[in-house]
Amino acid sequence: VLSAPLDRLGRPLRDLRLSVIEACNFRCGYCMPADRVPDDYGFDAAGRMSFDEIEALARGAARLGVSKLRITGGEPLLRKDLAALVARLASIDGIDDLAMTTNGALLARHARALHEAGLRRITVSLDALEPALFRTLSGDRGEVADVLAGIAAAEAAGFQRLKINCVVQRGVNDEAALALVGHFRGTGHVVRFIEYMDVGTCNDWRRERVVPSAELRDRIHARWPLQALDANYRGEVAQRHAFVDGGGEVGFVSSVTAPFCGDCHRARVSADGRLYTCLFSGDGIDLRPLLAQGELAVAARLAELWKTRVDRYSELRGSAQASPRHVEMFLVGG
Ligand code: GTP
Ligand code: 5AD
Ligand code: SF4
Ligand code: SF4
Repeated sequence: VLSAPLDRLGRPLRDLRLSVIEACNFRCGYCMPADRVPDDYGFDAAGRMSFDEIEALARGAARLGVSKLRITGGEPLLRKDLAALVARLASIDGIDDLAMTTNGALLARHARALHEAGLRRITVSLDALEPALFRTLSGDRGEVADVLAGIAAAEAAGFQRLKINCVVQRGVNDEAALALVGHFRGTGHVVRFIEYMDVGTCNDWRRERVVPSAELRDRIHARWPLQALDANYRGEVAQRHAFVDGGGEVGFVSSVTAPFCGDCHRARVSADGRLYTCLFSGDGIDLRPLLAQGELAVAARLAELWKTRVDRYSELRGSAQASPRHVEMFLVGG
């Protein structure tokens, strides 16, 4: 490990979120609505980093102290041979947490190979259990039964304690949140509710649509009493709460009502090799020319870039200092 760089606000780089593909088989309205991102949008398989490039990037990041790697998309399971990439990433010294975020629709098909390749943690996005609502939320592309089959297959393959992420929108799926809690309580999986965010440029975000985590927590608490838990690690994005009756836990990601930029140790890289030091960055910085030069060159450049970082968008939201241009969510995987 080279010396771990700190950014201008004193934050180290610990966590790399790596997108392996920008395409998705869903069209969620808050991420890539079909009218803004049609099928012929210009997804470019040839523009994606090769596995060699991705591995060089991950090794370079590990040299700077990154210990957590999350594979994202778009929908990562659409990337050909993903398990082969996982095997390469799982073997990197220093990466002790390798995870993936997926919409789950193709998970039943891939869970076993991913586990055998060394993936240990999966987060599944799931916004509703009711089939018609789920279908609508996926942009008429997904079936909740497939996602539930994916979750069952992941369990059977040996994944434990999955995380289930639900983006909550008022008047859309907030009433469905309790059903999700009821379904996963007692299974060992952890449902986490995410405040609807103004990411990207496509989603016509309105603050009235945000359900503050505190409100949702109170609604859940009224049905199944909750008790706050300490974070698993410094800078954990979700606030944890346990069911008092021992039914497990739920989490809340409150980036609108309670921003957590102060402990943000995350960098994101898009499938075409651009670095984004914030979920709300504008253009990103092309790392591609470096990747051919190997992990040491990557580490040196990443360190240099990280040291200039000042991002704290969620703390500045609504103020004149907040940058108005945002990368699309499907390019950086949340
Ligand atoms: P764990 O490693 O299991 O703690 O997962 P995580 O919470 O770091 O990752 P996950 O992909 O599950 O993140 C949950 C959601 O929180 C993401 O999909 C984003 O919507 C949101 N999120 C994650 N990181 C950030 C961040 O740095 N800033 C903001 N504003 N939102 C974030
Ligand atoms: N607000 C909050 N979360 C979002 N995600 C995508 N778009 C948004 C948004 N506008 C979440 C997805 C998934 C992860 C990749 O990011 O639901 O859990
Ligand atoms: Fe696809 Fe995930 Fe975006 Fe939905 S949120 S469109 S599943 S990348
Ligand atoms: Fe990190 Fe940017 Fe999210 Fe703040 S808004 S927590 S700086 S990614």
